[in-house]
Amino acid sequence: MNAKTVALKHFLQFKDLSKAELLHLFERARVIKQRFKNYEKYQPLADRTLAMIFEKASTRTRVSFEAGMYQLGGSVVNLTTGDTHLGRAEPIEDTAQVISRMVDLVMIRTYEQAKIERFASHSRVPVINGLTNEYHPCQVLADIFTYIEHRGSIEGKTVAWVGDGNNMANTWLQAAEVLGFKVHVSTPSGYEVDPGVAGVSDSRCYQVFNHPLDACAGADLVTTDVWTSMGYEAENEERLKAFVDWCVDEEMMAVADSKALFMHCLPAHRGEEVTAEVIDGPQSVVWDEAENRMHVQKALMEWLLLGAVE
Ligand code: CP
Ligand code: NVA
Repeated sequence: MNAKTVALKHFLQFKDLSKAELLHLFERARVIKQRFKNYEKYQPLADRTLAMIFEKASTRTRVSFEAGMYQLGGSVVNLTTGDTHLGRAEPIEDTAQVISRMVDLVMIRTYEQAKIERFASHSRVPVINGLTNEYHPCQVLADIFTYIEHRGSIEGKTVAWVGDGNNMANTWLQAAEVLGFKVHVSTPSGYEVDPGVAGVSDSRCYQVFNHPLDACAGADLVTTDVWTSMGYEAENEERLKAFVDWCVDEEMMAVADSKALFMHCLPAHRGEEVTAEVIDGPQSVVWDEAENRMHVQKALMEWLLLGAVE
């Protein structure tokens, strides 16, 4: 049951939110995080229920949404493909009709973006993308909030993306277009970002580099992700060979800006996409990123269900 006064909105990809809405969320995340750190109770979502549907594995997304919803006073129902009719070919549209009559909010982690869009178009309540093959918008919300906490506004800055042209890369490009920064992208040949899939039209938001060192030169933030995303495990062997030069190491961090941060959405594979020296080193903010998933998602759930709380 969505609050009557709040128009139905979904968060299916990063650009579903305008710059003003994103800046509002970052400010709310700051306030909500501060309250959490001060042990102040804040339970505006009492009696509200979040359904979470996982068709892929998760540690951070599961815990951050579940703990976050409880902290806001609500409750959570967790569904997986194996123990629901989703894995037994009930149409996603029918599942959306049913679930959205019983809960106030739905978070989905699945494969094709088209699937979450079909769910949303038959849902009475807001739907949040908890990762699809194409996008991971909650993660980039947390990453930018983390950047702001450490360094201030990201507008006009340069983010180096080293690795696979995957769901995280696509989402970074969308964020750059909406918030006004630039992504320097370096991927192995055959694993490039497709701007059509990323859903960006302004070519000024990104620049492609053949060599990862060139992408990192002068960057304010260096970020990467696993070489093999969930759902692509059959390609693992060939990816291990193709990506061998796309390991973020101290040499790459050395050519970035002296105040550059390192981010990784996690889970990480030390010795593949990043060295232990970098991810466990002084420029890394990966634990803050992970924690901030919970704070930004609490702000997102508040906004979707209650509108712009001041
Ligand atoms: N970063 C992230 O989404 O982690 P999980 O796969 O553990 O949810
Ligand atoms: N690109 C990774 C992110 C995991 C959080 C994946 O899709 O598996």
